[in-house]
Amino acid sequence: MIITSERISLKHLLTAESLSDQEVMGLIERAQAFKRGEKAELKKQQYFTANLFFENSTRTHKSFEVAEKKLGIDVIEFDAKTSSVSKGESLYDTVLTMSAIGVHACVIRHWEEDYYNELIQSKTITTSIINGGDGSGNHPTQCLLDLLTIYEEFGHFENLNIAICGDLTHSRVANSNMKMLKRLGANLYFCGPEAWYNKKYEAYGTFKPIDEVLDKVDVMMMLRVQHERHEGNSEFSKENYHTEYGLTTGRAKKMKKDAIIMHPAPVNRDVELADELVESYQSRITQQMSNGVFMRMAILEAILHGKA
Ligand code: CP
Repeated sequence: MIITSERISLKHLLTAESLSDQEVMGLIERAQAFKRGEKAELKKQQYFTANLFFENSTRTHKSFEVAEKKLGIDVIEFDAKTSSVSKGESLYDTVLTMSAIGVHACVIRHWEEDYYNELIQSKTITTSIINGGDGSGNHPTQCLLDLLTIYEEFGHFENLNIAICGDLTHSRVANSNMKMLKRLGANLYFCGPEAWYNKKYEAYGTFKPIDEVLDKVDVMMMLRVQHERHEGNSEFSKENYHTEYGLTTGRAKKMKKDAIIMHPAPVNRDVELADELVESYQSRITQQMSNGVFMRMAILEAILHGKA
């Protein structure tokens, strides 16, 4: 894979798979440049962005805010609870308003899958949309920061063995990552309860019990059990899940010494991942969080770069 030095220019970022390989590698290169302390190349003196979070978030919301501040962007405060959303205003009308008052880009997290379609089809809305997560759909900025973290570790994606483990059905991270990692040449395994596996994932990898992949993988990508999306129907107790499907300390000992552990966080400690592995030498979870700032700087630059 060749890294390009050409500047990437994007209108929106809705899904990771809509990016070309060249755009992905260009964003990784820019994120690495920001990490080295390089300055952004933006044409205008003043840019406005708004972070519209309709679902809770710590990492995505706050790392976008840090990225925006590092780039010198004016961030418009928005709280769904105190905005006109509480009077019944729709997402469309909220974004229409942001666009009309001169906000150049909106980072949006929303519970509805593909919420962005009606926004980008609008002839009136001109603000760019950056998808910060849509229901169980996509999480492109998490996917890109995960790709950055893997690339930093191994310098390539081809033929890496990567296991994506856990709540596959509800994970927008898994959905984005399986498509991109497969396209970039990685070999994927899926692990976890069969009830959370879907035959459509066969296009991307092989379903295996976690104990059969431990000594093979370069990356163990653990997923959060999304209790809030199970509507109280989860058949697993915390302890049962950890023993049957989680990355326990015993299982981690069977991993290759240079294999890494990833998790998009928040982590349910001692459910999908043993408490003491979260900050272990093989874990890259805090690096993922730090990389989120630099990758989001690269994404914001690519979006704002094209604005007159
Ligand atoms: N990984 C992730 O999206 O975390 P938040 O829900 O805290 O943003």
